[in-house]
Amino acid sequence: MMRAHWGTRLGFILAAAGSAIGLGNIWKFPYITGENGGGLFVLIYLGCVAVVGLPIMIAEILIGRAAQSSPVSAYKRLSGEDSPWQALGWLGVVCAFVILSYYSVVAGWSLNYIILSLVDTTHGKTPDQIGGIFDTLYKSGSANLLWHFVFLSLTVGIVYGGVQRGIEKACRVLMPMLFVMVGALVVYCLIETPSGFAKAFGFILEPDREKLTPRGVLEALGHSFFTLSLGMGAMLTYGSYMSKEDDITRSSLWIVGLDTLISMLACFMIFPFVLGHGQVPAQGPGLVFKTLPIIFSTLPAGLLVSLVFFVLLALAALTSAISLLEVSTSYFIDEHEWERPKAVLVTGVITLVLGVPSALAGGGGMLPEWEAMFGMNFFDTFDYLASNWLLTFGGFATAIYAGWFLPDRLRREEFASGSRFGKLYPVWLWTLRVSPVAILVVLLYKVGLLKV
Ligand code: PHE
Repeated sequence: MMRAHWGTRLGFILAAAGSAIGLGNIWKFPYITGENGGGLFVLIYLGCVAVVGLPIMIAEILIGRAAQSSPVSAYKRLSGEDSPWQALGWLGVVCAFVILSYYSVVAGWSLNYIILSLVDTTHGKTPDQIGGIFDTLYKSGSANLLWHFVFLSLTVGIVYGGVQRGIEKACRVLMPMLFVMVGALVVYCLIETPSGFAKAFGFILEPDREKLTPRGVLEALGHSFFTLSLGMGAMLTYGSYMSKEDDITRSSLWIVGLDTLISMLACFMIFPFVLGHGQVPAQGPGLVFKTLPIIFSTLPAGLLVSLVFFVLLALAALTSAISLLEVSTSYFIDEHEWERPKAVLVTGVITLVLGVPSALAGGGGMLPEWEAMFGMNFFDTFDYLASNWLLTFGGFATAIYAGWFLPDRLRREEFASGSRFGKLYPVWLWTLRVSPVAILVVLLYKVGLLKV
């Protein structure tokens, strides 16, 4: 079977930026920035993105394009049928299932809030009651299961359509909508609460050394992998649909640039509300689902703002979820020669089942023994495992593979093919080879072998 390809260059950039821009940018980045005191955390995060994220992004896309196949088959093709590197492909497939299973639950919450914005459930309620809406949702197993199912069905529906007619077409429509909505909300914030905007500026841009802990630095690095969809083969898979005439470095710069821009803008559309309405930014995961609805309920045209915000969140999540599902789907297509419809449906059902414990986590959970053993529920365990360990380790191994084990000629040719940045090859290779050192320091610190 002929391998599918992106219809246009822009299509690839929008699909890959769609993968990168997701809940990580709009739900997670603002709250971890809030928890880590803003300024300096943002600066360190930007450093991680530029020095570690960008070179690994180029490497992943390059591996995918060179092999023209999805993770497991890619390592086999490039390094031989028995190569141990195929384990890295496997890690990606496992990660795709794990992340999508809980990601879809969070995305489901935003679908729920779209409906809530349409029927105006906050009218006449006190802030505590509005915050309580989320607690009720979180605890309701049936609501979580329903939304998890609805969101995954949408994801399956798009991936079912294939690379060009499903993924690319959806991203070409959804991504511009997303950019417009982000822009509109930032402008609204600026007009509605100029003083909050000024405070947000100070909070996000002023480095305050006191507030940043070594844990914050780890979080910045871990998050840069999550937000750029690195370390688990998503970019590799999207890269495998790229043609040799396309410029990998230029596309990577676009993807990383757009992702970073949206993360920063997300802060500028959330913190002005929070700071301008007497709330604090360090509220953890509830920032978007509890605090914002309370503020929205007091704003002029608050329901519309709320609707736009949660539609935006759902769209961002959807374009990321399709890239996660495409990783597992393309595994079955490439390795087991399944037809796409069968591969999509089977991976969709596996993810649906795997997400059940996460969907039920808030209502006391399915497995109390699990919680007793790990000290956190299923949902948090999956998130912690994936974003703190699997992606960081995956990124580390990918950098070593691409930096040291890919044949130099192939790597050089692939880097230069279609690119006007061919001359930067030594710079890229050098950074790629150094980046694992930074990741290693972080990993050693995490396992307690290094103390700061
Ligand atoms: N990058 C996505 C986000 O920021 C999450 C994601 C991770 C998507 C890994 C695909 C692969 O929300």
